[in-house]
Amino acid sequence: MKTQITEMFGIEHPIIQGGMHFVGLAEMAAAVSNAGGLGIITGLTQPTPDDLAKEIARCKEMTDKPIGVNLTFLPGFASPDYPGYIKAIVEGGVKIVETAGRSPESYMPELKAHGIKVIHKCTSVRHSLKAEKIGCDAVSVDGFECGGHPGEDDIPNMILLPRAAEELSIPFVASGGIGNSQQLVAALALGADGINMGTRFIATVEAPVHQNVKEAIVAASELDTRLIMRSLRNTERVLNNPAVEQIMAVEKEKGADLEISDIAEQVGGVYPKIMQEGTMDAGAWSCGMVAGLIHDIPTCQELIDRIMTEAEASIKGRLAAFA
Ligand SMILES: Cc1cc2nc3c(=O)[nH]c(=O)nc-3n(C[C@H](O)[C@H](O)[C@H](O)COP(=O)(O)O)c2cc1C
Repeated sequence: MKTQITEMFGIEHPIIQGGMHFVGLAEMAAAVSNAGGLGIITGLTQPTPDDLAKEIARCKEMTDKPIGVNLTFLPGFASPDYPGYIKAIVEGGVKIVETAGRSPESYMPELKAHGIKVIHKCTSVRHSLKAEKIGCDAVSVDGFECGGHPGEDDIPNMILLPRAAEELSIPFVASGGIGNSQQLVAALALGADGINMGTRFIATVEAPVHQNVKEAIVAASELDTRLIMRSLRNTERVLNNPAVEQIMAVEKEKGADLEISDIAEQVGGVYPKIMQEGTMDAGAWSCGMVAGLIHDIPTCQELIDRIMTEAEASIKGRLAAFA
C-alpha cells in the first residue's frame, strides 16, 4: 500500500511503532522495520546519548530498513541532554525522529539541517497545526483511547482524526486504540495516511519485555485501563492493578492538592521492574484500551502481514461492494 507516509519514510506499509519507554529497544524497532513498518527506538530509555548511539548501532546490525528514534520532551522538571541525544541520532545516520510531549520547535533547525524527517505526536488539532507551522513533516494524531499520555482534551479518534483532516496540510497517521486491519481501513477513511500503534506491538514475540507484560495485555479487556495524574495535567492511561488503585485512592483524597511526590513510589522508575522483571504490580504502566482487541502474541511480521492482507481484502471486497 502506498500512502504519503510510506513515501515520506521509505517504508513498505503505513504502520509505525510508536516510541515506548523500556519497550522501544533495538530488537523491537528492528523487528517492525524488517516487517515493512517503521520501528522506533525510544531515545530516553537510554540513560545517556552515548548509550543511544550504541542502541542505534545495535539496531542497524539487525536491520538495513529505515528506523526512527523517539524524543520525548518531558514536562518542565526533567531536563535530559537533548542536544546530546540529537547528536547521537545525527551521527547514527537515523533520518526519522518521532517527537512527543512539549513542542520540538527549538530543536527543529538542528534536525532539519541534517535532513531528518520529523513526525510530532499530538493529542489535539491545535498542537497538530503548531507542528505543521514549525516545519514538522507529519503528525501522529493521538486520540483519547491511546496508551500513555492522551492530553487533557479527551477527544476520541472518531472525531479527532476527521478534525485533523479538515485542518492539516501535512500528512498524519492515526494513533491510539489501533490494533487491527479494520481500524487501519477506518483510519484511512477518516483522512489518515497510516497508523501508529503502541500497545499492540508490546504483545508480539519480538517485543523485548517480560512474557508477563504480553500476557497481561492479552488478558485485559477494553474496560481495564484507568486515567491517572489528571489533576497534575499529566494524564496517563495505564493498565489497572493494585498500584494504580492506590494512586487513585491518593488522588481522591488529595484532590487538587495532589503533588507528584504523593505518588512517586508508584510512578517513578517502575518501568524496569515491570518490563524487564515482569513484576506486574510494581507500579503504573502505560497501556491502551486496544488491549480489548488484542488476543494473541504474533511475530511482528505475522501481525503486519495480517493487518495489510485483511485491510486490502476489505477495501477491495466489503467496502467496494458498497460503492
Ligand atoms: C508502555 C508504553 C510506553 C510508552 N512510552 C512512550 C514514550 O516514552 N514516549 C512517547 O512519545 N510515547 C510513549 N508511548 C505512547 C506510544 O508511543 C503510542 O503513542 C501509544 O501507545 C498509542 O496508543 P495505543 O497504545 O493505543 O496504540 C508509550 C505507550 C506505551 C503503551
